[in-house]
Amino acid sequence: MIELVNISKSFGDQTVLKDVSAQFEKGKVNFVIGRSGSGKSVMTKCTVGLLEPDSGNVLFDGRNFTAMNLKQRKEIRKEIGMLFQGSALFDSMTVEENVMFPLKMFSEMPLEEMKARVLHCLNRVELTGSEHKLPAELSGGMQKRVGIARAISMNPQYLFCDEPNSGLDPQTAIIIDNLILDLTKEYGMTTVVISHDMNSVIEASDTIHFIHQGEVAWSGNNADMMTSSSSTLNDFVYASKLMQRMRNTI
Ligand SMILES: Nc1ncnc2c1ncn2[C@@H]1O[C@H](COP(=O)(O)OP(=O)(O)O)[C@@H](O)[C@H]1O
Ligand SMILES: [Mg+2]
Repeated sequence: MIELVNISKSFGDQTVLKDVSAQFEKGKVNFVIGRSGSGKSVMTKCTVGLLEPDSGNVLFDGRNFTAMNLKQRKEIRKEIGMLFQGSALFDSMTVEENVMFPLKMFSEMPLEEMKARVLHCLNRVELTGSEHKLPAELSGGMQKRVGIARAISMNPQYLFCDEPNSGLDPQTAIIIDNLILDLTKEYGMTTVVISHDMNSVIEASDTIHFIHQGEVAWSGNNADMMTSSSSTLNDFVYASKLMQRMRNTI
């Protein structure tokens, strides 16, 4: 479990996160949803240490990450897999080199073992045979799967996915959502998915935290979300005509 305890973060005089507290549960896909600019990415960056919160604490299974020094943090960082917005693959590296990158950075594995691990991860995301291709030779969905293979290469306890569906068609998006859901269950990871895509939330969420203007405005699960009386949540959830039609069938 990952716990955020009263996290606040400002840039100059702009307060982006206000006293955010949330719990992300183990073996579950924990969604963080909210409008563009509401603070989701800043919250994720504060959680994994890419940004320093102004106040508050982040606990990884009870271990206070915020209070740790760099060396201690590196140990936790090895347990975190990240899928960045837009895949963020290295264009000049092959698929194999991309997936191997965290292993080279963070592990002491011999090369043969690394290669075997890379093949295992590529096989898991159904990309066997693509190891010598360059990212530019792959479709958007395949690039995303390389990103996922890279994120799980270190066999992480924690997986963060920031807008994993950005730029994908709806069918490919569902495949990616379900891959993240399946891997979470298979490896018992604590997974955090940042999204503003209602399709994904309905398809693949176990828990949901709704961020509005830098605050956790609502938390619950799929079923609760559909019948919530929170007007700020409903404005977000039922923004599309499709969702409005779904509401009418509940
Ligand atoms: N490094 C930064 N410096 C200054 N402002 C930032 C920085 N990162 C994000 N912000 C601001 O914080 C707000 C929330 O951004 P972000 O967390 O990226 O939103 P989103 O919910 O779309 O992921 C935005 O107004 C953004 O401009
Ligand atoms: Mg973002």
